[in-house]
Amino acid sequence: MRSEMEKDILKVLVTEEELKQRVSEMGAALYEMFEGKNPLFLGVLKGSFVFVADLMRACQIKSDIEFIAVSSYANATESSGRVRINYDLQQDITGRHLVIVEDILDSGNTLAFLKQYFLAKGAATITIVTLLDKPARREKAVTADLAGFTIPDEFVVGYGLDYAQRYRNVPYIGVLKPEVYSNH
Ligand code: PRP
Repeated sequence: MRSEMEKDILKVLVTEEELKQRVSEMGAALYEMFEGKNPLFLGVLKGSFVFVADLMRACQIKSDIEFIAVSSYANATESSGRVRINYDLQQDITGRHLVIVEDILDSGNTLAFLKQYFLAKGAATITIVTLLDKPARREKAVTADLAGFTIPDEFVVGYGLDYAQRYRNVPYIGVLKPEVYSNH
Protein backbone atom coordinates (compact mmCIF):
# COMPACT_ATOMS: atom_id res chain seq x y z
CA MET A 1 0.00 0.00 0.00
CA ARG A 2 1.24 3.52 -0.75
CA SER A 3 2.09 5.59 2.32
CA GLU A 4 3.17 9.20 2.49
CA MET A 5 4.13 8.68 6.16
CA GLU A 6 6.61 5.86 5.66
CA LYS A 7 9.52 8.22 5.00
CA ASP A 8 9.10 9.63 8.54
CA ILE A 9 9.53 6.20 10.17
CA LEU A 10 13.03 5.28 11.33
CA LYS A 11 12.25 1.61 12.00
CA VAL A 12 9.42 -0.82 12.62
CA LEU A 13 9.25 -1.97 16.24
CA VAL A 14 6.21 -4.28 16.05
CA THR A 15 4.98 -5.59 12.70
CA GLU A 16 1.35 -5.99 11.63
CA GLU A 17 1.68 -9.76 11.91
CA GLU A 18 3.11 -9.57 15.43
CA LEU A 19 0.29 -7.23 16.46
CA LYS A 20 -2.34 -9.57 15.08
CA GLN A 21 -0.88 -12.60 16.84
CA ARG A 22 -0.47 -10.88 20.20
CA VAL A 23 -3.90 -9.23 20.16
CA SER A 24 -5.43 -12.64 19.49
CA GLU A 25 -3.58 -14.09 22.52
CA MET A 26 -4.68 -11.16 24.68
CA GLY A 27 -8.31 -11.62 23.63
CA ALA A 28 -8.12 -15.29 24.60
CA ALA A 29 -6.57 -14.40 27.98
CA LEU A 30 -9.40 -11.93 28.68
CA TYR A 31 -11.96 -14.55 27.74
CA GLU A 32 -10.52 -16.86 30.41
CA MET A 33 -10.51 -14.06 32.99
CA PHE A 34 -14.01 -12.69 32.35
CA GLU A 35 -16.20 -15.48 31.00
CA GLY A 36 -19.68 -15.05 32.53
CA LYS A 37 -18.79 -11.73 34.19
CA ASN A 38 -20.12 -9.26 31.60
CA PRO A 39 -17.09 -6.96 31.69
CA LEU A 40 -17.19 -3.36 30.52
CA PHE A 41 -14.38 -2.55 28.12
CA LEU A 42 -13.26 1.01 28.68
CA GLY A 43 -11.28 2.43 25.78
CA VAL A 44 -9.08 5.41 26.57
CA LEU A 45 -9.28 7.73 23.57
CA LYS A 46 -7.89 8.66 21.35
CA GLY A 47 -4.87 6.35 21.27
CA SER A 48 -6.64 3.07 22.05
CA PHE A 49 -9.27 3.22 19.32
CA VAL A 50 -7.50 0.82 16.95
CA PHE A 51 -6.40 -1.61 19.65
CA VAL A 52 -9.74 -1.76 21.45
CA ALA A 53 -11.56 -2.48 18.18
CA ASP A 54 -9.26 -5.41 17.43
CA LEU A 55 -9.13 -6.62 21.04
CA MET A 56 -12.92 -6.76 21.42
CA ARG A 57 -13.25 -8.81 18.26
CA ALA A 58 -10.53 -11.13 19.55
CA CYS A 59 -12.58 -11.72 22.71
CA GLN A 60 -16.00 -13.17 21.87
CA ILE A 61 -17.47 -12.63 25.30
CA LYS A 62 -20.70 -10.90 26.33
CA SER A 63 -19.45 -7.42 27.10
CA ASP A 64 -20.09 -3.79 26.32
CA ILE A 65 -17.91 -0.82 25.60
CA GLU A 66 -17.53 2.68 26.98
CA PHE A 67 -15.04 5.41 26.20
CA ILE A 68 -13.28 8.20 27.98
CA ALA A 69 -10.99 10.70 26.28
CA VAL A 70 -8.06 12.11 28.18
CA SER A 71 -4.85 13.81 27.24
CA SER A 72 -1.70 14.78 29.05
CA TYR A 73 0.79 15.24 26.24
CA ALA A 74 -0.69 18.16 24.32
CA ASN A 75 1.61 18.24 21.28
CA ALA A 76 4.74 17.19 23.14
CA THR A 77 6.61 13.89 23.34
CA GLU A 78 6.69 13.91 27.16
CA SER A 79 3.79 13.80 29.60
CA SER A 80 2.92 17.08 31.28
CA GLY A 81 1.76 15.07 34.31
CA ARG A 82 -1.65 16.76 34.29
CA VAL A 83 -4.43 14.58 32.94
CA ARG A 84 -7.37 16.33 31.35
CA ILE A 85 -10.73 14.68 30.63
CA ASN A 86 -11.89 15.72 27.17
CA TYR A 87 -14.89 13.37 26.99
CA ASP A 88 -16.35 11.74 30.06
CA LEU A 89 -18.18 8.46 30.77
CA GLN A 90 -21.72 8.33 29.43
CA GLN A 91 -23.00 5.64 31.81
CA ASP A 92 -23.04 4.55 35.43
CA ILE A 93 -20.18 2.12 36.08
CA THR A 94 -21.18 1.20 39.63
CA GLY A 95 -20.47 -2.47 40.34
CA ARG A 96 -18.99 -3.15 36.90
CA HIS A 97 -15.90 -5.17 36.12
CA LEU A 98 -13.87 -2.66 34.13
CA VAL A 99 -11.26 -3.60 31.58
CA ILE A 100 -9.34 -0.41 30.86
CA VAL A 101 -7.80 -0.60 27.41
CA GLU A 102 -4.79 1.61 26.72
CA ASP A 103 -2.43 1.82 23.77
CA ILE A 104 0.59 2.64 25.93
CA LEU A 105 1.60 2.76 29.58
CA ASP A 106 4.45 5.26 29.77
CA SER A 107 4.88 7.59 32.78
CA GLY A 108 1.78 6.00 34.34
CA ASN A 109 0.18 9.40 34.95
CA THR A 110 -2.88 8.63 32.84
CA LEU A 111 -3.63 5.21 34.33
CA ALA A 112 -2.88 6.29 37.91
CA PHE A 113 -5.43 9.04 37.46
CA LEU A 114 -8.02 6.86 35.71
CA LYS A 115 -7.78 4.05 38.24
CA GLN A 116 -8.65 6.42 41.08
CA TYR A 117 -11.32 8.09 39.01
CA PHE A 118 -13.10 4.83 38.14
CA LEU A 119 -12.83 3.48 41.70
CA ALA A 120 -14.41 6.69 42.96
CA LYS A 121 -17.23 6.13 40.43
CA GLY A 122 -17.93 2.72 41.98
CA ALA A 123 -16.25 0.18 39.67
CA ALA A 124 -16.22 -3.29 41.29
CA THR A 125 -12.88 -4.34 39.79
CA ILE A 126 -10.35 -2.71 37.51
CA THR A 127 -8.15 -4.62 35.11
CA ILE A 128 -5.54 -2.72 33.14
CA VAL A 129 -4.76 -3.88 29.62
CA THR A 130 -2.16 -2.08 27.57
CA LEU A 131 -0.79 -2.89 24.16
CA LEU A 132 2.60 -1.33 24.89
CA ASP A 133 4.45 -1.02 28.17
CA LYS A 134 7.41 1.35 28.47
CA PRO A 135 8.65 0.68 32.05
CA ALA A 136 11.79 2.82 31.68
CA ARG A 137 9.77 6.03 31.99
CA ARG A 138 7.45 5.14 34.86
CA GLU A 139 6.77 7.95 37.35
CA LYS A 140 3.71 6.44 39.06
CA ALA A 141 3.45 2.96 40.62
CA VAL A 142 1.08 1.51 38.04
CA THR A 143 1.38 -1.95 36.51
CA ALA A 144 -0.62 -3.54 33.74
CA ASP A 145 -2.51 -6.77 34.40
CA LEU A 146 -2.02 -7.68 30.76
CA ALA A 147 0.52 -6.09 28.42
CA GLY A 148 1.15 -6.84 24.77
CA PHE A 149 4.75 -5.78 24.30
CA THR A 150 7.39 -4.25 26.55
CA ILE A 151 9.21 -1.62 24.53
CA PRO A 152 12.38 0.45 25.00
CA ASP A 153 12.39 4.18 25.67
CA GLU A 154 11.75 5.34 22.12
CA PHE A 155 8.97 7.55 20.81
CA VAL A 156 6.57 5.30 18.94
CA VAL A 157 3.65 5.92 16.60
CA GLY A 158 1.11 3.87 14.67
CA TYR A 159 -1.78 1.50 15.44
CA GLY A 160 -3.56 4.39 17.17
CA LEU A 161 -0.54 6.19 18.62
CA ASP A 162 0.18 9.67 17.35
CA TYR A 163 2.68 12.41 17.15
CA ALA A 164 0.83 15.76 17.04
CA GLN A 165 -2.34 13.84 16.00
CA ARG A 166 -0.66 12.26 12.98
CA TYR A 167 0.47 8.70 12.20
CA ARG A 168 -2.45 7.00 14.06
CA ASN A 169 -3.34 5.16 10.85
CA VAL A 170 0.12 3.65 10.36
CA PRO A 171 -0.74 -0.07 10.62
CA TYR A 172 2.33 -1.14 12.66
CA ILE A 173 4.25 0.29 15.63
CA GLY A 174 7.14 2.38 14.39
CA VAL A 175 9.80 4.70 15.74
CA LEU A 176 9.64 8.19 14.31
CA LYS A 177 12.76 9.82 12.90
CA PRO A 178 13.94 12.36 15.52
CA GLU A 179 14.07 15.14 12.91
CA VAL A 180 10.29 14.86 12.49
CA TYR A 181 9.61 16.17 15.98
CA SER A 182 12.72 18.31 16.47
CA ASN A 183 11.67 20.40 13.45
CA HIS A 184 8.47 21.51 15.18
C1 PRP B 1 -1.18 8.72 25.48
C2 PRP B 1 -1.68 7.29 25.51
C3 PRP B 1 -2.01 7.07 26.95
C4 PRP B 1 -1.02 7.97 27.68
C5 PRP B 1 0.06 7.15 28.29
O1 PRP B 1 -2.28 9.59 25.41
O2 PRP B 1 -2.80 7.12 24.68
O3 PRP B 1 -3.33 7.46 27.25
O4 PRP B 1 -0.49 8.87 26.71
O5 PRP B 1 1.09 7.92 28.82
P1 PRP B 1 1.40 8.07 30.36
O6 PRP B 1 1.55 6.69 30.94
O7 PRP B 1 2.71 8.82 30.37
O8 PRP B 1 0.29 8.85 31.01
P2 PRP B 1 -2.20 11.12 24.94
O9 PRP B 1 -2.25 12.01 26.15
O10 PRP B 1 -1.04 11.30 24.01
O11 PRP B 1 -3.57 11.30 24.16
P3 PRP B 1 -4.16 10.43 22.93
O12 PRP B 1 -4.58 9.08 23.49
O13 PRP B 1 -5.31 11.24 22.46
O14 PRP B 1 -3.08 10.27 21.88
